[in-house]
Amino acid sequence: MCKINDIYQTELEYLKDGIKNSSNPYHTFTLSSLNGIYPESRTIVLRGLDFDPLKIYFNADYRSPKIQELTKNHFCSALFYDRKRKIQLRFKCQAVLHYQNNISRKIWSNTVLQSRKCYMGPHSPSKSLDEWHPNIPLEYLKTDPDKEHSKEGYINFTHVELKIMESDLLQLHHDGHIRFKVINGNKLFFVSP
Ligand SMILES: Cc1cc2nc3c(=O)[nH]c(=O)nc-3n(C[C@H](O)[C@H](O)[C@H](O)COP(=O)(O)O)c2cc1C
Repeated sequence: MCKINDIYQTELEYLKDGIKNSSNPYHTFTLSSLNGIYPESRTIVLRGLDFDPLKIYFNADYRSPKIQELTKNHFCSALFYDRKRKIQLRFKCQAVLHYQNNISRKIWSNTVLQSRKCYMGPHSPSKSLDEWHPNIPLEYLKTDPDKEHSKEGYINFTHVELKIMESDLLQLHHDGHIRFKVINGNKLFFVSP
């Protein structure tokens, strides 16, 4: 008998571990959003998770195309794959952007100086450049800003909440794959692999 509820709970625990554990493959995921009619995908670091209701969180530069895309259309998809354990998680999500609010302020206050400098770049992410620029202040290539100066990055900082509406879990097995969906965290049913 295949207990899909147990498999689902185990994967949620792996996701939780992936927030801090960079050797867990769930530490990063692929986020796809719509740029007009074109899907755009990129790698993102998992920063947080709530179990009930299920939500995942990440950080981004407010000036980046992904934030513009999610502002126009908050429906998106998050994809995780654990190559060793051969498990794929695919989530249908709705994005909620936290920018210059109590939630973004709290996350920013816990963001280390090394990460804060990524939000201090003079250029909008993905903008064309006439010549190479690392898009962090050049004085901080080898050091980090002090706390006071790092505050300048907050204007570009966004914390993104992804509310998960549907989960699709695929576990590969040589003697028959297991695949099931979870709707709104409670309705679990098999789908054909
Ligand atoms: C390992 C890895 C982790 C990344 N994590 C993030 C992240 O957490 N947030 C983010 O905005 N971009 C992250 N990026 C960069 C994005 O993949 C992307 O290149 C950049 O944000 C521009 O995306 P956009 O033009 O679609 O907005 C990461 C890239 C890599 C390779």
